[in-house]
Amino acid sequence: MARDGAVYTCQACGGISHKWAGQCPACGAWNTLVEEVTASRPPGALAPARSGKARGGLAFETLDLETVAPPRLVTGIAEFDRVCGGGVVPGSAILVGGDPGVGKSTLLLQVCAAAALNGARVAYVSGEEAVEQVRARAQRMGLGHAPVKLAAETALRDIVDALKRETFDLVVIDSIQTLWSDQLEAGPGSVTQVRAAAGELVRLAKKRGTAVVLVGHVTKDGQIAGPRVVEHMVDAVLSFEGERGYPFRILRGAKNRFGATDEIGVFEMGDSGLREVKNPSALFLNEGGERSAGAAVFAGIEGSRPVLVEFQALVAPSAYGTPRRAVVGWDSGRLAMVLAVLESRCGLSLGARDVYLNVAGGLRITEPAADLAAAAALASSALDQPLPQDCVVFGEISLSGDVRSVGRTDARLKEAAKLGFGRALAPNAAKDSALSEAGFSVASATRLADAVRRIGDNDWR
Ligand code: TYD
Ligand code: MG
Repeated sequence: MARDGAVYTCQACGGISHKWAGQCPACGAWNTLVEEVTASRPPGALAPARSGKARGGLAFETLDLETVAPPRLVTGIAEFDRVCGGGVVPGSAILVGGDPGVGKSTLLLQVCAAAALNGARVAYVSGEEAVEQVRARAQRMGLGHAPVKLAAETALRDIVDALKRETFDLVVIDSIQTLWSDQLEAGPGSVTQVRAAAGELVRLAKKRGTAVVLVGHVTKDGQIAGPRVVEHMVDAVLSFEGERGYPFRILRGAKNRFGATDEIGVFEMGDSGLREVKNPSALFLNEGGERSAGAAVFAGIEGSRPVLVEFQALVAPSAYGTPRRAVVGWDSGRLAMVLAVLESRCGLSLGARDVYLNVAGGLRITEPAADLAAAAALASSALDQPLPQDCVVFGEISLSGDVRSVGRTDARLKEAAKLGFGRALAPNAAKDSALSEAGFSVASATRLADAVRRIGDNDWR
């Protein structure tokens, strides 16, 4: 029987149970429930109003009052600012998650330096590295002259005291998992500590008008470890991603109370830190040389920007009884669907063959508009017939084998034209686009079978 006021919090997912169990009922992890005494109010929740006015009851407001857009702190790292919704909102809290080693500390140090050089009062508190290490890195990146205040500290109380003493516009805490509060028994990195530290810092941010960026490490399965519980306390959650072996890094908005969540920022990791990539399309195309059978260039949209990416497929005879399906950068469930449609609606027999699908450059594509590009790459490899060099592909595929139209056709075609493409394999609706009249040739397909026939016959009229 649980004590009064005691709850058991899962250290992996933050799920709460009222009695102890060996396995977390929420996420299924073993031995992760730890007893905690409940706080009187959830961390991050608003404090009850103490003013006399509110005590008498709740005063409702209307929606039609004039609002002022929040002023923003523009850091000067344009890719970062865009993902934040056009700069950092004062008093907001941002969680930046990512695998260890992906470059979170590097990115945020650069953001701090750029903001400080723009005149903002900036502090960078590292709980993982010594001041000398951070300074050496900044100097190596040529940022030694930026007026950023550095500290190495893990004691929450000292950090909070320092932030109360001095006013800052932007404070980076690297990382939230290293902080500990001496008022709690739990060890650093536990859900209890992470939640308490984040709650305290978020409250301080709101009160002082300081923008606080919290760095959080992500576990192998893609969850922000422990800090899952932090996600709902902060105003924005950004994840910093990158495939091992590729220099490209993508900052992706997962939640944003002050802007769109589907924005991405693209960076390239080099010897002197992260470089902003203003034109990602050029990056994700396989440069140089002919495109061979199995390659299709997808005209996609990431956030507000069009991005061209190459899909590469290989359909090969299987050496084993069970054919392999391997996919990098795309959803494997989606691949299974496209293969089933190719098989049953287009007469391509793929069932007994190995299928590999790869998105070039280490980008992860989630748009349904990529269906047709993946199907075109697969059909091109299966039929051993390359697509025209100057052809881009986009369109959604339904289970019935129809090719459905997708949004932002003009933007996709325009980006393709800008990069020297002159042809598109696309849904019928793309024929109406302004660009299709201006010399851009759209080979339309209403059924996936039409598209496959075009590829097989090399017919692009
Ligand atoms: P880091 O920012 O420390 O990662 P995180 O804080 O997410 O754990 O980045 C570490 C990696 O970045 C490390 O493998 C080295 C690489 N790196 C460069 O390639 N060039 C650079 O200029 C810097 C600073 C780091
Ligand atoms: Mg780090």
